[in-house]
Amino acid sequence: MSNNLLKGKRGIIFGALDSNSIAWITAERVFEEGGTFVLTNAPVAMRMGQINELAEKTNSTVIPADATSLEDLENLITKSIEVLGGKLDFVLHSIGMSVNVRKGKLYTDQNYDWTHKGLDVSAMSFHKVMQTLYKNDAMNEWGSIVALSYMAAQRVFPDYNDMADNKAFLESVARSFGYFFGKDKKVRVNTISQSPTPTTAGKGVKGFDGFIKYAHKMSPLGNATAMDCANYTITLFSDLTKRVTLQNLYNDGGFSNMGVSDEIMNIIDNN
Ligand SMILES: NC(=O)c1ccc[n+]([C@@H]2O[C@H](COP(=O)([O-])OP(=O)(O)OC[C@H]3O[C@@H](n4cnc5c(N)ncnc54)[C@H](O)[C@@H]3O)[C@@H](O)[C@H]2O)c1
Repeated sequence: MSNNLLKGKRGIIFGALDSNSIAWITAERVFEEGGTFVLTNAPVAMRMGQINELAEKTNSTVIPADATSLEDLENLITKSIEVLGGKLDFVLHSIGMSVNVRKGKLYTDQNYDWTHKGLDVSAMSFHKVMQTLYKNDAMNEWGSIVALSYMAAQRVFPDYNDMADNKAFLESVARSFGYFFGKDKKVRVNTISQSPTPTTAGKGVKGFDGFIKYAHKMSPLGNATAMDCANYTITLFSDLTKRVTLQNLYNDGGFSNMGVSDEIMNIIDNN
């Protein structure tokens, strides 16, 4: 399916680790819609090698960058403009990681070095990416920047742990930087709050299988897939959403406005 919605547009896509990654599927969709881009990920993720397969498929260049390193981001953005032959129209921040989650530390027993690391990778990196883009005047007017979030920024999901705080920070950065990007550069900044999705990052959350089933049964349209997220992102990168900015947009089958569903009530009644 292609409507050439991104024809002539250039960008950077962060976070394609493997074919389940939301960024991977988004890259394939952006390619189909006529966009050209640089793929990037942390050097450690590069060593796993799969990103080259995606690069080949989408005629794109890979430039490694640790999204917490200003030096790496500076290099990434300058080189991307060279490689793509002009300033950028879209950027996808699809990055998340909590060391506390990975190592099974409870929210009530944080290792704060790990908390800092997770905050830097998952949230502050979004500020760093935007600040580097802003200072380099790297975005074209009416460009679009999107980061991916989760509803634990607003509501309690105990096992989501410190990632909940990271997502709250991320969404706030989208609004705060979005103001300056809008005023000074006519660029929009939004976050998409996505349903639980079976990816490496998603499956790392304790009890993920139950979590994803519960969300599915609660949502009138069921969980949004990675492909749904990719398609939504395409609309936000396209010229059809030029004045949508400073928003946290739910792509979750309706979950965020539900109280309870008949399916969940039936399960509870039958217990
Ligand atoms: N999977 C879900 O259930 C779900 C739900 C809502 C939001 N999200 C968000 O979607 C985004 C993408 O995650 P995903 O589910 O596709 O999982 P994923 O594991 O495929 O992607 C996470 C990416 O972050 C990258 N990354 C980690 N540290 C980095 C660093 N220092 N520099 C640069 N990149 C780094 C990883 O290499 C990986 O490519 C994340 O922000 C995640 O929190 C995921």
